[in-house]
Amino acid sequence: MTASLASADRANLYSNNALKLGIFGANMSSGIAATKVPERWPASWEENVALAQMIDAAGLEFALPVARWRGFGGATNFEGSGFETVTWAGGLLAATERLTVFGTVHAPLVHPIFAAKQFVTVDHVGRGRFGLNLVCGWNQDEFEMFNVAQRDHETRYEYGEEWLRVVRMMWESEKTFDFKGRFITLGGVESEPKPYGHEPPVIMNAGSSDTGKAFAIGNCGYLLSTIRLSLDTAAENVADAHRRAAALNKRLGVMTTASIVCRPTQREAEDYYRYYADEQADWEAVDAMVSAGQRGSSTTMQPEIFRQMRIRFAAGYGGWPIVGDPDTVAAGLVAVANAGFSGVAMGFVNYLAEFPYFRDEVLPRLERAGARGPRAIRRLETPLR
Ligand SMILES: Cc1cc2nc3c(=O)[nH]c(=O)nc-3n(C[C@H](O)[C@H](O)[C@H](O)COP(=O)(O)O)c2cc1C
Repeated sequence: MTASLASADRANLYSNNALKLGIFGANMSSGIAATKVPERWPASWEENVALAQMIDAAGLEFALPVARWRGFGGATNFEGSGFETVTWAGGLLAATERLTVFGTVHAPLVHPIFAAKQFVTVDHVGRGRFGLNLVCGWNQDEFEMFNVAQRDHETRYEYGEEWLRVVRMMWESEKTFDFKGRFITLGGVESEPKPYGHEPPVIMNAGSSDTGKAFAIGNCGYLLSTIRLSLDTAAENVADAHRRAAALNKRLGVMTTASIVCRPTQREAEDYYRYYADEQADWEAVDAMVSAGQRGSSTTMQPEIFRQMRIRFAAGYGGWPIVGDPDTVAAGLVAVANAGFSGVAMGFVNYLAEFPYFRDEVLPRLERAGARGPRAIRRLETPLR
């Protein structure tokens, strides 16, 4: 099964496709769409397995979960029900063959020895297909639930860096070691086995501020970055991230997120987008999300950005909307690839109901466009470690 997955390809998510595709947030009720529509995603385990197997068979590269500990309230208690992401990843890795499955993990909430060991365990379950999406925290309500004080914004990332250093040492060190950092002190640390094939899992981070991006560029193989104002601005940001990575002698892949609505006609798709993300949006939940971010001093949830992006926050966390008939959706994804992104983590209102149409209509168009499939050109995104 995984014999064809050469370990050297782990950083490329075992794929030569120029544009890698994955699903985003399927571990959470409503996924990433704060909407009241009755067909919203229930996120049962059975549906998660069926979806993972469906996207695996379709050749998608990854599944990326959201790390959320409490719902955002509103009529739907948006994301109030959700699976913890590393155990979710372990189950899905056992049920799939080629898919890279990420865990999204809060460094400040999980002890690094426990975390490193847990990552290795699920990585063996998936024979080298686990990826780590490391988050340093933003949601004040969640930290209050844990009774853990959030560090100030800059220190959050300094802590994240130290936490990650411990995790990597556990993955790599052949000897027992002591660790004395600014935040973490450990004695006599040993950790066996190492990650599958002695290759470290792919690491991603979605920092949005300059500090957050610098953290991702300096410490991770992938930066996950939302397209804010336009694809042109996003392309400049991606180029800037690549320049900064090159200055550190690192290569970097930059991923983004998108809310996908694909229907036989443009009109149907646009009508549905308006219906679920505006008319039927769970505004109370969206407001709670923004408020939690502001109290946690996230730079991404400031009022002005929010005003510009209100519908997009309801549609899918402020990700890039790609809405239309199959030609339009394929063109929208190719445009994202042309802006320099190496992957898109996609949200659908109901992943299982909507993915088959996307698979049958959009994936062949992406192959014909050379973004995916046998003729796709491998990009220079293999991260150097
Ligand atoms: C696409 C995307 C996905 C994210 N997923 C999560 C998540 O699942 N859990 C979480 O606590 N934070 C998540 N974050 C928040 C980021 O880790 C980070 O806290 C936020 O972007 C603020 O960036 P800053 O710390 O650089 O200001 C996500 C951010 C983005 C852009």
